[in-house]
Amino acid sequence: KKKVQDYVIADISLAGFGRKEMELAEYEMPGLMALREKYGQEKPLKGARITGSLHMTIQTAMLIETLQELGAKVRWASCNIFSTQDHAAAAIAKTGTPVFAVKGETLEEYWEYTDRILDWGNGKGPNVILDDGGDATMFVQLGVKAEKDPTILDKKPGSEEEAVFLAQLKKALKKDPTRFSRIAKDILGVSEETTTGVHRLYQLEAAGELLFPAFNVNDSVTKSKFDNLYGCRHSLVDSIMRATDVMLSGKVAVVAGYGDVGKGCAQSLVGQGARVIVTEIDPICALQAAMEGYEVMNMDDAALIGDIFVTTTGNCDVITERHMKKMKDMAIVCNIGHFDSEIQVEKMKKYKWTNIKPQVDKITMPKGNSIILLAEGRLVNLGCATGHPSFVMSNSFTNQVLAQMELYCNPGKYPVGVYTLPKFLDEEVARLHLEKIGVKLDVLTAKQAKYLGIPKNGPFKPEHYRY
Ligand code: NAI
Repeated sequence: KKKVQDYVIADISLAGFGRKEMELAEYEMPGLMALREKYGQEKPLKGARITGSLHMTIQTAMLIETLQELGAKVRWASCNIFSTQDHAAAAIAKTGTPVFAVKGETLEEYWEYTDRILDWGNGKGPNVILDDGGDATMFVQLGVKAEKDPTILDKKPGSEEEAVFLAQLKKALKKDPTRFSRIAKDILGVSEETTTGVHRLYQLEAAGELLFPAFNVNDSVTKSKFDNLYGCRHSLVDSIMRATDVMLSGKVAVVAGYGDVGKGCAQSLVGQGARVIVTEIDPICALQAAMEGYEVMNMDDAALIGDIFVTTTGNCDVITERHMKKMKDMAIVCNIGHFDSEIQVEKMKKYKWTNIKPQVDKITMPKGNSIILLAEGRLVNLGCATGHPSFVMSNSFTNQVLAQMELYCNPGKYPVGVYTLPKFLDEEVARLHLEKIGVKLDVLTAKQAKYLGIPKNGPFKPEHYRY
């Protein structure tokens, strides 16, 4: 009997290239490799059906195979239409793993794939979700809501994206009207990768609508203070340079938002000799930026003088049509935050678009001035480059695997709510990455530990410490 192909990728012949890059990544992902070593025999994730929605890159391929080596079965899709690395998707598909991810897929395809990773056959769903940005979780959450009140799907969509999402939900419910409440019952929890997804989870929790426990992986120190910061420091300029080849030295770069991502982006641009301006709404972050030596001003003023603009806020409407209209001719505009709503791209659709190459467009306004928009306003480091490097993603993904194990191996331990991993695990993740870069730690003496009033082997900091 011929098996039905259970994947959608661009080109299976890229699998060999993907595999070779994964073999290189093994050397840069000591955290994941240590987990394989430690739990590979025991297989603590045996029986886990993990639905994963996270950028299908080489690093993610390494995460997938770690979860599998620990016993899990996975179904995977990218959490962005531009972020897939087709050779990584091919390497994963080649092993028989269901993966639905194509660089440059349409929005319709994106939501269809999200639907497919939640469908484990015979009416079954996943028992754990691994999410980045919360789209897979929202699909289930809204599906359950719509089963009770289908009229919520008839509301006027706020964007093209939302219209496609609502249409896919309708289709799913038409096919199987009780599917979502049925699969939600089996879901032990979700582990969420990023700031924006975590924000959505806390909103659901506050509204009393969260259906299952959730792990906030983002706020492990070894995630947000590394991936968001040093990851973006690496991948922001990489993406602007690959996309435009523009000389960054001497240019005026405007970074909107000075959180973890903004701090990394500002450093990234300074590293290339750009003069950096920061915009903020939070007085603490604005003060940090100023004391770091950046000029801080509002976007209306910055729009007039910037050559390059990067949004890093996780907020909507940060660069508006009004801002873009008054920018210098040929200013470069991009976003590195999770969703494309940071820049008012929809409002620019009425102007003249000239495609320079995939993920690079020139938009010309009626007065004749143009801007260069990267990745259509979607996260630029994964749209125009290859995202963060393996070493930093090993930190993030080691936290992800630990969170998946917490959820799957301890059913009932966590009442519905949002949790972070305990500090001793956070410290353990860091510890696993020291040897690779030649770091040797000092060790507390018994006297010192007593003096500080902390255990000799950690945790070394109280919960309120901010790093
Ligand atoms: P954060 O909360 O630490 O920082 C965001 C900052 O933006 C805050 O300081 C906030 O005050 C500021 N902000 C909000 N509205 C603003 C406005 N209108 N103008 C100026 N500043 C404003 O969040 P974090 O961790 O830095 O993440 C930011 C975004 O980046 C999120 O969407 C997150 O999911 C995403 N992210 C993307 C990554 C990538 O590889 N592309 C990696 C990690 C996170």
